[in-house]
This record gives sequence, structure tokens and C-alpha cells, in this order.
Amino acid sequence: MGSINGKHVIITGASSGIGKASAAACAAAGADLTIGARRLDRLEAIAKELTEAYDVSVTPVETDVTDSGSVEKLFTTAADYRGVDVVIANAGVATDGTVEELSDESYKTMMSTNTDGMFYTARSALPYLRERSVSSFSLHRSLVSSPVLTIQSTRRRSGGHVDSRRVSWHRSVTAGSASP
Ligand SMILES: NC(=O)c1ccc[n+]([C@@H]2O[C@H](COP(=O)([O-])OP(=O)(O)OC[C@H]3O[C@@H](n4cnc5c(N)ncnc54)[C@H](OP(=O)(O)O)[C@@H]3O)[C@@H](O)[C@H]2O)c1
Repeated sequence: MGSINGKHVIITGASSGIGKASAAACAAAGADLTIGARRLDRLEAIAKELTEAYDVSVTPVETDVTDSGSVEKLFTTAADYRGVDVVIANAGVATDGTVEELSDESYKTMMSTNTDGMFYTARSALPYLRERSVSSFSLHRSLVSSPVLTIQSTRRRSGGHVDSRRVSWHRSVTAGSASP
């Protein structure tokens, strides 16, 4: 899609790192934002900083992407405000160490955040994205996160087949992925 000036962008994992930087870049480009993460205090500080710097609105919503109800609330809040044009599904965790060193707990946290969280985000976002004539879903992934969604989004972007058993992309929704 073209310019995001005047669009409404929803960013998960916006309380730090790439998500926070994405929020700043989108605000600088003139987009209104709804930002989600677990640390509401950080989101509120970012919202204050960005609304003081730019003529945009920034709505912080406490969100845990491992909880489908929490993700649904993020998108309901965003859509009630002014619909959904662009989604940056960025929330994720990285774990150090090798496969042999990974504990059950770390593995489960990684999978529930990076894989379940990405699925919940796509499932909640798509009905709202389809309401727009032009919209975009972008996911930030690590090599271990969300392989199904990544393959599908890459295929969709190249105009190829999309496996509608899992995610039904719409022709107006541009999908892409970034692997930092
Ligand atoms: N930086 C890299 O080199 C690199 C490499 C490969 C992939 N990536 C991917 O890029 C994305 C961003 O990475 P980053 O380096 O910017 O990481 P980061 O600084 O650790 O930021 C991660 C963000 O995800 C949020 N998050 C984590 N668990 C969450 C949950 N359960 N619910 C909602 N939000 C959650 C965190 O917010 P809260 O803690 O406040 O919830 C934080 O805002 C991740 O998906 C990561 O896997 C990054």
C-alpha cells in the first residue's frame, strides 16, 4: 500500500525495540496508532512522547498476545475508534541457547508468544482489514516463529496460492513478513 499518512496502524509489541521504533516511524509519517503490549506504563509513556511530537493520536491498550481474548480486545478497541488499515504483528520473544539448553518453560513461552500470538493477531485482525479497500498485515518473525503464517503471507504477496484452511487472506489485504 502507499502512504500511511492518515491511516490507522495497530502495532503489537510496541513497548520496546523494533515495535517501539515502528510506532515512532509511523507517527512521524502521520499515522494514528493503537499500540499493544503487556507493559501498559511503557505504552503510555510512548503515547505521550509521540502525541507531543506529532499531530497524531496514539491509543495504548494493555495486550497479552498469548491470550486470544486480550488480542480480540485490542482490535475491538482499535476498530471502534476508527477501523483498522495496517497491522504490524511484532510482539515476540527471543530465547538464548541451543535446543538442548532450552527448558520446557522457555520453549512454551516462545511458542505461545511467537506462534499462538501471531495466529490470534491474524485471526482478530483480518475481519477488520477486509472492511478496507486497501489494507496491510505485516509480521515480524524469528526463524522459529509462525512458519505457517509466514509461508502463507509470502505466497499471497507473490500472487500465488493461499491455503484457506488456516488463514483466508482477502485480495485487498497485502501481507508481508520481515525477519530482523
Ligand atoms: N532484534 C532482532 O535481532 C530480531 C531478530 C529476529 C526476530 N526478531 C523479532 O522481532 C520482534 C521484535 O523484536 P525486538 O528485538 O524488538 O524485541 P524486544 O525489544 O524484546 O520487544 C519485544 C516486544 O514484544 C512484546 N511482547 C513480548 N511478549 C508479549 C506478549 N505475550 N504479549 C504482548 N506483547 C509481548 C514486548 O512487550 P511487553 O514485554 O511489554 O509485553 C516488547 O514490546 C520479535 O517478534 C522478535 O522475535 C527480532
